[in-house]
Amino acid sequence: MKKVIYLFISLCCLALIIMLILLQPKKIKLDSTLISEKTDQIKRGEYLTQLAGCIGCHSPEDGILLEGGVELISDFGTFITPNITADVVFGIGSWSDQDFVRALRFGQSPNGAYYYPAFPYTSYTALTQKDMLDIKAYIFSLPTSEKPSQPHQLPFPISLRLAALGWNFVNFHDAEFKYNSDFSELYNRGDYIVNHLAHCQECHTPRNWLGKIDKSLALSGSNFGSENESIPGIRAIDLKDWLDVDLNMFFQEGLLPDGDYVGSTMVEVIDNSTHYLTDQDRASLIEYLKNN
Ligand code: HEC
Ligand code: HEC
Repeated sequence: MKKVIYLFISLCCLALIIMLILLQPKKIKLDSTLISEKTDQIKRGEYLTQLAGCIGCHSPEDGILLEGGVELISDFGTFITPNITADVVFGIGSWSDQDFVRALRFGQSPNGAYYYPAFPYTSYTALTQKDMLDIKAYIFSLPTSEKPSQPHQLPFPISLRLAALGWNFVNFHDAEFKYNSDFSELYNRGDYIVNHLAHCQECHTPRNWLGKIDKSLALSGSNFGSENESIPGIRAIDLKDWLDVDLNMFFQEGLLPDGDYVGSTMVEVIDNSTHYLTDQDRASLIEYLKNN
């Protein structure tokens, strides 16, 4: 009888041990390439979003990143940037990848309306699709905001959306980035940053009376700054007295060769954008400026 009881107890213990083993949560091995692909994309997107200046134009000083509401005063009226967080109702959370690419490449909204060129899609048009989608991945990884976008304050007839269609039709040509094989890889990367990603041309190149960038006078300076201030040229000839070390210091900290700090809207460009350039990208930007 004793033997039967011992056998029974041992069997119970064995069953308990087996149950404990079976109840352990199974170890799941995630596909590590997928994880790093996603986080890498968001990281790349963060860097690109900084260089592209999306944050400066779309983020109020106190508030959620990219929730809009920043007033941009121009000769044509005051634009108020929209909420571009991933909120489904108040932001762009319902946009597909195609919608996002369409906006940056053609300046066109998901319902086919056109954007005013105060949104510099005129420069972003030549970004690679990969860069655009990395930017989207980063934006969609951020907290969302339920702040409604506000209407622009524009005089009639510019206030009509159709005016933006007209502008786009007359002045805009979408373009893919053209690699110039007469120049180095460094120079070409600089071209991509200056003219497209960081859109230096939007401020440093003169425009015609319709506000179209005059490519024949690229980077020769303009008087399209806020309150018609004049913006200096940044071609090789304009920067001939700047040493590489001066330019490096300038794009990192905004320090001018004479020891003063730069002012006006360039402060934001340095703080939100060029300050984050990798050494390699800063070298390419300088290479491009010094050869133009
Ligand atoms: C110089 C300021 C400026 C910069 C820089 C800028 N935007 Fe904008 N953006 C605007 C303005 C102004 C509008 C509104 C245009 C309109 O209503 O026609 C806009 C509109 C948009 C829209 C359309 C939103 C909607 O609800 O239809 C998207 C998307 C957008 N921007 C994304 C971006 C991204 C991404 C970047 C960076 C790659 C960026 N913007 C950089 C000023 C800017
Ligand atoms: C939003 C408009 C704007 C954008 C975009 C912009 N800049 Fe500027 N930049 C200015 C203004 C305005 C000044 C003059 C600031 C001052 O008066 O202190 C300036 C000054 C400069 C200077 C100093 C020139 C001198 O002779 O003192 C350099 C160099 C420069 N910018 C390069 C760039 C580069 C490169 C980019 C693109 C990465 C860029 N800027 C984008 C507005 C802009």
